[in-house]
Amino acid sequence: MKIQLAHVQHLRDICELLKVLDTEKRKFSEEKQSLFFISQQWCYIAVESGNVVGVMVLEPTEGSYKIYTLVSKQKGTGKLLVNWAIDICRKNNIPKLWCWSLARYAAEGFYKKMGFAESFLLHKQWDGEDCYFLGKLI
Ligand SMILES: CC(C)(COP(=O)(O)OP(=O)(O)OC[C@H]1O[C@@H](n2cnc3c(N)ncnc32)[C@H](O)[C@@H]1OP(=O)(O)O)[C@@H](O)C(=O)NCCC(=O)NCCS
Repeated sequence: MKIQLAHVQHLRDICELLKVLDTEKRKFSEEKQSLFFISQQWCYIAVESGNVVGVMVLEPTEGSYKIYTLVSKQKGTGKLLVNWAIDICRKNNIPKLWCWSLARYAAEGFYKKMGFAESFLLHKQWDGEDCYFLGKLI
């Protein structure tokens, strides 16, 4: 498996993967937004045998990095992508990696396994939905 920056030719595959995150109120799979992330070089993909099996958008914020979206369709890929994000933080001397995660995704346990020791459930936080705020010191 290879992790690399995404390019425009991966757009379709990326949007297809991101559909799993879509809610009634928010379309994470919208092409325009992914194109923007690709152009910023914030979008990474995991490629296995020529197929895109994972995607992560890593967005620089005020002195920290935020995982904006993360999707894996092959076990082990989520861990690889988060470890990739941790490596990028280390290389750039960034002390904090964090994300929002809607409670409906039930991904809190995954982030805990990845060492996100800070975990807060905020009620009706994101589009009126319960959402975890998860953080990891680097
Ligand atoms: C959450 C997600 C990214 C995890 O990716 P993955 O490739 O399945 O995860 P990995 O196989 O790398 O798992 C790493 C570890 O976390 C555990 N894990 C994975 N998903 C988990 C979950 N939802 N809850 C608890 N533990 C989980 C695995 O069992 C594994 O544990 P191990 O190291 O002891 O074997 C993936 O299931 C996914 O894309 N889900 C749908 C979209 C989503 O919810 N994204 C997160 C939105 S913020």
